Amino acid sequence: MGEIFPWKEEYNTGCEEIDTQHKKLFNIINELFTAFEGSFAESQVPRILKELEDYTVYHFSTEERLFEERNYPLKEEHKKEHDSFIRKIKNFKKQMELGQNNLLAFDVMLALKDWLIDHILGSDHKYIPYLCND
Ligand SMILES: [Fe+2]
Ligand SMILES: [Fe+2]
Repeated sequence: MGEIFPWKEEYNTGCEEIDTQHKKLFNIINELFTAFEGSFAESQVPRILKELEDYTVYHFSTEERLFEERNYPLKEEHKKEHDSFIRKIKNFKKQMELGQNNLLAFDVMLALKDWLIDHILGSDHKYIPYLCND
């Protein structure tokens, strides 16, 4: 089965560790949308959201560790973007627990997915010359 949001060549940074983690995030997001479409039991959604939160925290901590190691000049503004995304996921999880309207929930999921792609193509790609060229 094809993925709803396939990985694209242009998303690659050339940092193997980072690209592997970004692909994993894509897998989780695809799983979330698939669960939402009803291919999985609806009860899978909370588990997948928890996995998305946990893996996002892990991925951001990997990037932020590399920022420190390489003394990346844009690290502070980049970390702020990470923090705001974690807040978005936490808020969404809370909304879902309270019983979110499915149409609204779908819009939020699309916004999270778009945020991630914009972040990878924008802020993440800015660190390539600092982190990904050895
Ligand atoms: Fe990233
Ligand atoms: Fe990032």
